[in-house]
Amino acid sequence: MSNTRANKRFRSQEWFDNPNNPGMTALYLERYQNQEYTRGELQGERPIIGLAQTGSDLAPCNKIHVFLADRVKAGIRDAGGIPMEFPVHPIQETGKRPTAALDRNLAYLSLVEVLHGYPIDGVVLTTGCDKTTPAMLMGAATVDLPAIALNGGPMLDGWWKGKRAGSGTIIWESRRLLAEGEIDYDEFISRACASAPSLGHCNTMGTASTMNAMAEALGMTLTGSSAIPAPFRERMNMAYETGRRIVQMVLDDLKPSDILTRAAFENAIVVNTAIGGSTNAPPHLQAIARHAGVDLTVKDWETVGFDAPLLVNMQPAGEFLGESFYRAGGVPAVMGELAKAGRLKGDALTATGQTMAENLDGWESEDTNVIRPVSDPMRERAGFLVLSGNLFDSALMKTSVISPDFRQRFLSKPGAEGIFEGRAVVFEGPEDYHDRINDDSLGIDDETVLFIRGVGCVGYPGSAEVVNMQPPDALIRKGINHLPTVGDGRQSGTSESPSILNASPEAVVGGGLALLKTGDRVRLDLNVSTLDAVVDDAEWQARRDAWVAPEIKHQTPWQEIYRTHVGQLAEGGCLELATAYQRIAGDLPRD
Ligand code: FES
Ligand code: MG
Repeated sequence: MSNTRANKRFRSQEWFDNPNNPGMTALYLERYQNQEYTRGELQGERPIIGLAQTGSDLAPCNKIHVFLADRVKAGIRDAGGIPMEFPVHPIQETGKRPTAALDRNLAYLSLVEVLHGYPIDGVVLTTGCDKTTPAMLMGAATVDLPAIALNGGPMLDGWWKGKRAGSGTIIWESRRLLAEGEIDYDEFISRACASAPSLGHCNTMGTASTMNAMAEALGMTLTGSSAIPAPFRERMNMAYETGRRIVQMVLDDLKPSDILTRAAFENAIVVNTAIGGSTNAPPHLQAIARHAGVDLTVKDWETVGFDAPLLVNMQPAGEFLGESFYRAGGVPAVMGELAKAGRLKGDALTATGQTMAENLDGWESEDTNVIRPVSDPMRERAGFLVLSGNLFDSALMKTSVISPDFRQRFLSKPGAEGIFEGRAVVFEGPEDYHDRINDDSLGIDDETVLFIRGVGCVGYPGSAEVVNMQPPDALIRKGINHLPTVGDGRQSGTSESPSILNASPEAVVGGGLALLKTGDRVRLDLNVSTLDAVVDDAEWQARRDAWVAPEIKHQTPWQEIYRTHVGQLAEGGCLELATAYQRIAGDLPRD
């Protein structure tokens, strides 16, 4: 070990080597020693490295980590540390009801408690499925022990009848084909299963690949770590190197607070645009920033990120999947192209101990079909717009998925480019949507804007991925695959819908969406980032005066705790009280 700790004690020695409290020290020692370690190892010869294990049978997207753990531990030992693996509350996007989003903050809370309350000097954060990555980074930011993230990696590419079948994207396509009567239920299932050919997380640029790209762009991983497919040899090697690296980070006392700076978040926002990243990235990055004490607002996604180009040709904004993205160089190739064009803050410090600019030296696209240079992007000015108006203070729109057809149909009226006026049809949650979307009496046509409410953090609870509502079957058969949709929930990062989502504040806490009625006129103006109900002020105020908050029924104790303390998506959907606790590793708990 090249030791830069200069006689500084390890934090774990406060447990294992405290002559002032022999009774407690003995109790700590005897029970950890009995699983193989010597007294000397625990008393300061070696740092103790936590391995936060997010994989399990209940969390298949991250299950690869159960196997990678051996390599991480080998790396930790070879560098002189002691690995201690511990379980993290499972957060499986496609398993947990009512939504995995409800449990991001629960996994965060439990990680904070483990890192703070156990003899741990540094931690490897295993990441993968959508919410696991932000939960781990949020916890590491709050505690501020040396920490490094290791993704499990995407699945291999899926294929169906000679075409790439991407996670999620195949679902949205199949949903349309089913509505058109082109496929039946069994083929729907077969198509979906073809998209998941191996262990790993979603192979599209959905929320999982996005959030792991964010972890790398923030500087919280080794260079090139996030995009390696789960079953690849390089993934095992990366696990080993990550284990080695965390030990040196402990010796150097390199902490999240050194890495998670405003510059790091600005880099991440630009990278999110360049990869065509998920609309779930803003709430997750807002949450990480708040726990790290970094000033970041939802509007920064437009001011910092909108002008950046889309470089990555990957579903849902493009064509390819994870294997091609990795072979084209992955995240450092994207960042290398952005850096060459002066679009990044190169001096941000990273988990490698070097700056981002130093990490990116020599990295560029290896395949310009998959990762384009800034001079020839997939699309210019491809970031999120952050809309506001009388229906909400903020809502996001992912412009990189606005198709030419959608733009032509809805946003290209001569003399009114980027403006759309239509009639609102409002649904109270996904059940109401499914019950009524094909009801002719709603009069849904191509002048309609579909709204869904009651699906935000408090309403759902946890905020549901339901805003990308499909038009009625009859419209789809006429070739109208998308209508403008708006809601206070989220949508899957794999969706290609240009929805207006994450509306904050949500309806159930009295946001303007609560006052909207079916039949109201609404006006979208992308030139000035507004969406408004065209209802006169007196009528709007009368509706507000008459509004009564809906009754909310909790099903579990956690739902009640969550709803009592959660904030809005625009502020990250954090447990608000938790944001007051920052950099707590040094504030040791009592014996
Ligand atoms: Fe787990 Fe997509 S469902 S990564
Ligand atoms: Mg999802």
